[in-house]
Amino acid sequence: MANYSQGWLLSIPMLLVAISIQTQALVRNENGIKSAEFVSPMFVLEPGSVVDKFYYNIDFPRGHIALKNFNAEVVDEAGNPVPLHETYLHHWVVVRYYQHKGVEVPIYDGDLGFHQSDFIVVGNAGICDNSLVQYFGLGSETRKTATHVPDPYGIEVGNPAEIPAGYEERWLLNVHAIDTRGAEDKLGCTECRCDLYNVTEDKHGRPLRPDYIGGLRCCYDQTQCKVKEGLESAKRGLYMRYTVTWVDWDNSILPVRIYIFDVTDMWKRLDQSTGQSTKHYCQVEYEIESCTATSLANDGCIDSKRVSLSFPTGGNVIYGAAHQHTGGIGSTLYGEDGRVICSSIPTYGEGKEVGNEAGYIVGMSTCYPQPGSVKISDGETLVLESNYSSAQRHTGVMGLFYILVADALPRPTLVKIHEEITIAIAIWGVALFGVAIAVAVFVTYRRRRSESKDGYQSIVM
Ligand SMILES: *[C@@H]1O[C@H](CO)[C@@H](O)[C@H](O)[C@H]1NC(C)=O
Ligand SMILES: *[C@@H]1O[C@H](CO)[C@@H](O)[C@H](O)[C@H]1NC(C)=O
Repeated sequence: MANYSQGWLLSIPMLLVAISIQTQALVRNENGIKSAEFVSPMFVLEPGSVVDKFYYNIDFPRGHIALKNFNAEVVDEAGNPVPLHETYLHHWVVVRYYQHKGVEVPIYDGDLGFHQSDFIVVGNAGICDNSLVQYFGLGSETRKTATHVPDPYGIEVGNPAEIPAGYEERWLLNVHAIDTRGAEDKLGCTECRCDLYNVTEDKHGRPLRPDYIGGLRCCYDQTQCKVKEGLESAKRGLYMRYTVTWVDWDNSILPVRIYIFDVTDMWKRLDQSTGQSTKHYCQVEYEIESCTATSLANDGCIDSKRVSLSFPTGGNVIYGAAHQHTGGIGSTLYGEDGRVICSSIPTYGEGKEVGNEAGYIVGMSTCYPQPGSVKISDGETLVLESNYSSAQRHTGVMGLFYILVADALPRPTLVKIHEEITIAIAIWGVALFGVAIAVAVFVTYRRRRSESKDGYQSIVM
C-alpha cells in the first residue's frame, strides 16, 4: 500500500476507496493466461490543472514471464472511466528498470535516459537514444488501440539470468494528464499552448525559445491552463487503472523486441572517418503550421513529415501501431524498396461518452501481419511518414511508431523435428508391437505344445 501515501495525506475516505480498488488486483488465470488489474497512486486535478507524475515501483506481475498485453485508462475515485473532454490523457508510459536492493528510490526528474548505478533503466530495443525507452505507452487513443502480442510471441521480462546481482526488476509509470473542464480553449490546453499556460520558462526555469509556442515544455507538472472566469473549484482524485496480461515464461514462447521510431529523430549515421557511432536525437514533439491558400490547392493541406532511419537488427514484424495527436490523419512505415511495413490510421470519436469523445483520437489501427510475411533486413533503411491535417495550426504533436519484431518464425525446424520424432516413435511402436505379438504367439504356441504334452490347461488363453 506504499503507493497510496499520497492518498493518505489527502483524506481517509480516499484511502478506503484506494483499498477497495487495490483488492481488485487479483490474478485471473485462464488456461495459463494470467491477467491482473492494478491502479496507480492517486493524482488530483482541478479545472485547467496538469499532472506529469512519475510513480516508481508500481504494482506489476513479477517473475520470469512473457507480457502479452497492457491496457490503461483514467478512472475516478469510484472507479468510473473518465472521458477525454474532462481529463485529457496526454500520455502514459511504462518503463522497466533495475533497482539496487535496499537503496532508496532515486530522485528522478523525468529524463528517461537517467542512469545511475543504483537505478538502471532497461530500455526497449531502440532506436531513440536516451528517450522513448518505454515498453508500453499511449495517449488519448489508449481505450481503442489493440496492444496484445499474438501467440506464440511474448515480451520476455524478469529473466533472473539478466537481472544484475543485488538488483531487482521494477516498473515505473509516467502519467501526463490535463484537466480541461471549463477550459477556454480545450484543444489549446491539450496542445500545451504556452500562451494559455502563461509559461515562458521550462520546468527547470530555463527561458523558452521565443519561437516555442506550444508543447511539453509549457504543460509540465502543476502548470495551469486558462479556464473560464468564475469557475468553481472542482478538485478530484483520479487513478490510472491498468490491466496486465502475461504467461509464465517457457521455451515455446518466441521473444519479440520493441522498437519505437520518432518522425522527429535527428540522427547521424556512423561516421567512417571519425568512427563516431550513430546518435539518435528524438525530439518527441513537433509543430504543424497552418496551411496557406497555395498549399490548399497543391496538397489539400496535409502536412506530411518523413524521416529515414536505419534499422539495426532485422526480423519479422509481428505488430505495428502509430501514436499521433489531434489533427493526425495516419502514419506509415515503409521499407527501403517502398513497400508498406505498416500503416496506422486514427479513429476520431463522435459523441460524448467514454471511448467515443468527439474531436479526440480514441484509437489507432494496428497491424498484425501473418508472421513471416513482413520482414525487415539488418541495416535496412526505413522511412517513417506522419501525416497531419494542416487546416489549422497544431503544437506539440507527435509522430511515433511502435513495432514488435521477432527473430525467427514459429520455429518450423523444431516443429518438424517434433513431427519426425513422433513419426519415428509411431513406427517403432508399431514395429515393437508387431515383435511383441510375434513373441506372444510363439510363446503361446510353445506353451500350448508343452501344456498339451504335460496335460496342464492354459489359464491365460
Ligand atoms: C503570467 O505570468 C506572469 C509572471 O510570469 C505574471 O506576472 C502574470 O500575472 C501571469 N498572468 C496570468 C494571467 O496569470
Ligand atoms: C500521407 O500523405 C502523403 C502525401 O500526401 C500520401 O502520399 C500518403 O499516402 C499519406 N499517408 C497516410 C498514411 O495517410
